Amino acid sequence: MNIIIFGATGRTGNELLLRALEAGHTVTAFVRNPSKISVSHRNLNVEKGEATRYSDINDVLSKEKYDAVFSALGAKGMFKRDLPLIDAMKNIVRAAENNEIGKLIHVSFIGVHPDAGKLGFLYKYIIPTFMTNLLRDHREKDAIVNSSKLNWILIQPPVLTSDAYNGKYIHEAEIHGDNSRKLKLSRSNLAEFMLKLANDNTYDKTAVYVTE
Ligand SMILES: NC(=O)c1ccc[n+]([C@@H]2O[C@H](COP(=O)([O-])OP(=O)(O)OC[C@H]3O[C@@H](n4cnc5c(N)ncnc54)[C@H](OP(=O)(O)O)[C@@H]3O)[C@@H](O)[C@H]2O)c1
Repeated sequence: MNIIIFGATGRTGNELLLRALEAGHTVTAFVRNPSKISVSHRNLNVEKGEATRYSDINDVLSKEKYDAVFSALGAKGMFKRDLPLIDAMKNIVRAAENNEIGKLIHVSFIGVHPDAGKLGFLYKYIIPTFMTNLLRDHREKDAIVNSSKLNWILIQPPVLTSDAYNGKYIHEAEIHGDNSRKLKLSRSNLAEFMLKLANDNTYDKTAVYVTE
């Protein structure tokens, strides 16, 4: 596959980049600071640009045909709004539509799921009370994605960790409130799942909950 990653300098984006290269894919990393990309590889192309500037994204997406666009852009904090990321989402969707990209896979957050309260106290009371801005931003970004003309998938993980890859995670469209779940997910497991979804239509045009 030929893929492009937004947020490739972040913890999830970097896992995805490394895993994609290892699997033999051709990867473009769209970043604002190329010096933060620590690997060089013959199949890796680093493009410098501002995600908040539509023309920067459109220029890169129009250069070649991508099979999938991955978005792992993340907010700096948990409590304040991060409006540039809303603009970035609009720009990614618009440019992907303009260039007829096959698939958009975006990392959202399980806290925005209507049944998140089934996951327990944290998701029923703490997050909805104290992380209202984070939830609002995620909902706005998700709405931009799911009202697009693209073939999209919203991935909704719980808290992300830097634990080593173990391939042990579950994914489902509905939350069943299974208490045996750890409600955390390593970014390495998440990256593997993201890559799998590029070639799997099970969750096309839906949101999918994924956890360990
Ligand atoms: N952290 C969690 O526990 C958690 C839980 C559930 C879901 N999520 C979601 O998972 C995704 C990835 O999270 P993460 O923790 O792996 O992310 P992260 O390590 O914080 O990385 C964030 C990425 O977003 C980029 N970014 C932020 N603001 C930007 C802007 N204005 N313009 C361009 N790039 C910008 C950063 O670029 P620079 O390197 O240039 O700063 C970096 O590449 C996010 O969408 C997050 O909301 C996170």
